[in-house]
Amino acid sequence: TKETKLLQEEEVEQLKQCLPKTNFLGSKLELVNYQGFWCQSNAFKQIFHYQTHFQARNSDIFLASLPKTVTTWLKSLLFCIVNRPNNVDNHHHQQPLIKFSPLLNHNPHELVYHLDLGVYGDNPILPRPNQLNDLPSPRLLHTHFPYQSLPESIKDSSCKILYIARNPLDTCVSQWFWHTTLIKKRTKDEDFQPPTIEEFFEEFCLGKFPYGPYFEHVIEFWKQSLEQPNKVLFLKYEDLKGDNAMLHLKKLAEFLGLPFSFEEESNGVINEIMEFCSIDNLKELEVNKIGFMNKFVEKKNFFRKGEVGDWTNYFTPPMIDKINTLMEQKLGGSGLSF
Ligand code: A3P
Repeated sequence: TKETKLLQEEEVEQLKQCLPKTNFLGSKLELVNYQGFWCQSNAFKQIFHYQTHFQARNSDIFLASLPKTVTTWLKSLLFCIVNRPNNVDNHHHQQPLIKFSPLLNHNPHELVYHLDLGVYGDNPILPRPNQLNDLPSPRLLHTHFPYQSLPESIKDSSCKILYIARNPLDTCVSQWFWHTTLIKKRTKDEDFQPPTIEEFFEEFCLGKFPYGPYFEHVIEFWKQSLEQPNKVLFLKYEDLKGDNAMLHLKKLAEFLGLPFSFEEESNGVINEIMEFCSIDNLKELEVNKIGFMNKFVEKKNFFRKGEVGDWTNYFTPPMIDKINTLMEQKLGGSGLSF
């Protein structure tokens, strides 16, 4: 009823009041620390609602990531793999991807739905939470939550989770560009002084950014991928960009239970998907050049350089030393390295 809803909202507000807070990069954008990760204070209600109410299906496919770890790319790859002509019985059968893909007129974020701040954040171009039940299987969904805070039904069901990790240095640079472009718009604060890369880096190392800290997020999904290899697949951006990219894409398709057939392989389907989803192709599509994803974020903001090693243009030797030491402390002995 309306009254219970109001009561619940009041309790959520009270819970939020008790959480540690920080002003992100000294701006008016407040972050609260919930269960060890930082989230936007003004979206806490939605985040809590998602965590407590979302119901996973066994057939769901989740993409999990930290912000700016090339989620956009993985969304397009995932969509193409699941919806490729050989998998779906449609009249486009045997036609090249380039001619019919919904990615030609939809941004990848409109096809693989971000739950926490998208669906539950009332993004008007995504389904409402009560429409999630009506979506056909497999649902392609995305979350930035750390593993331990995921809705219980995601952890308990036999859904699949693809985790995309990107080395911390490039993630830091990409986040720096993203936040310095968007904070002024978000806070409507003309006086906000954007941080230098050095200043941003310090906050990044402290984990003070939405969904941070970085290492705790990455390591938990890494551990889960070792403990539950049928449930969690851990992918690295650097691998997907490297010489063995095809091999990793094949692994992804196999993990989803949708392996590429011999015929598809010899017809060059894997290559076609890779080329179609490349940043050079996607960023030139009209749909990714114009329009907004939400009030502040333009679709084009999701496509910048998409390179491995852009950090070499920004990091000073002391910054490199510091991140290497952190990496050693946090990842040492885990079998994971960047
Ligand atoms: P850079 O800022 O380093 O260029 P997210 O998708 O998680 O928001 O991350 C954004 C980053 O992914 C940006 O990195 C962006 O350029 C890159 N990116 C977006 N689409 C891509 C694609 N199709 N291929 C490779 N990188 C892509």
